[in-house]
Amino acid sequence: MTAATATTATTATEAAYAQRRGELEEYFDRTASSAWAALTSDAPVGRIRATVRAGRERMRETLLGYLPEDLTGARVLDAGCGTGTFATCLAARGADVVAIDISQTLVDLARQRAEAEGVGPGTIEYRVGDMLDPSLGIFDWVVALDSLIHYPADQLQALIVQLCARTRFGVAFTFVPRTALLSIMHVVGKTFPRGNRSPDIRPITERALRARLGADEAMAGFTCGRSDRVESGFYTSQAMELRRA
Ligand SMILES: C[S@@+](CC[C@H](N)C(=O)[O-])C[C@H]1O[C@@H](n2cnc3c(N)ncnc32)[C@H](O)[C@@H]1O
Repeated sequence: MTAATATTATTATEAAYAQRRGELEEYFDRTASSAWAALTSDAPVGRIRATVRAGRERMRETLLGYLPEDLTGARVLDAGCGTGTFATCLAARGADVVAIDISQTLVDLARQRAEAEGVGPGTIEYRVGDMLDPSLGIFDWVVALDSLIHYPADQLQALIVQLCARTRFGVAFTFVPRTALLSIMHVVGKTFPRGNRSPDIRPITERALRARLGADEAMAGFTCGRSDRVESGFYTSQAMELRRA
């Protein structure tokens, strides 16, 4: 590949990522923001959403299980924090959390909820923007709960690689396993407001994901650790842990 061809490929990849991120911002910030607010609250929900809520709670506990019990003083990124429940859990373990999301609406809600709950003993800094923003700096740990699931395989890989590059110890994230018949797609596709630009889920097999990460030179310093699937009615998602070797 010539230098010119490589530059063109990089530009095309960046443009595709920016477009996808823009679609997701539109969806989570406007189309589905009140649905996410309800799902992530204690408000009564219908049967389908109740299975999703229960599954997501189990998944949050699963990812938390990949992190040290005591995070006092650790700098942790909640990448795609949504309404901020995970960030609050991390702060409760003593972490200094940066909670970032492309949706201003969801970040505002996250901040309000944390204030109402009285966060601590750690802290939470809320940011609106891209989880890959280099100005965020380096973290001890990164978590991404159901926030990478809308990206196609090449973008998912690039996101994971770049999140790993700014992590001292590890990244804990979720993906939607391709084998799942019922997936979080139901949340977006059936129970949530739908529009032309509503984001679909991009499932990937665990095998394909491991192969991609294993073949990526930038991941040489990392090993794939635990991986656990959570299935709860209309929710299916799989956790994966990446640790610096
Ligand atoms: C399915 S929601 C999950 C939110 C939260 N992690 C949770 O589990 O409640 C996906 C979130 O990822 C956010 N997101 C997607 N791509 C992002 C990016 N590149 N940078 C920051 N946030 C992103 C979306 O705005 C959305 O709030």
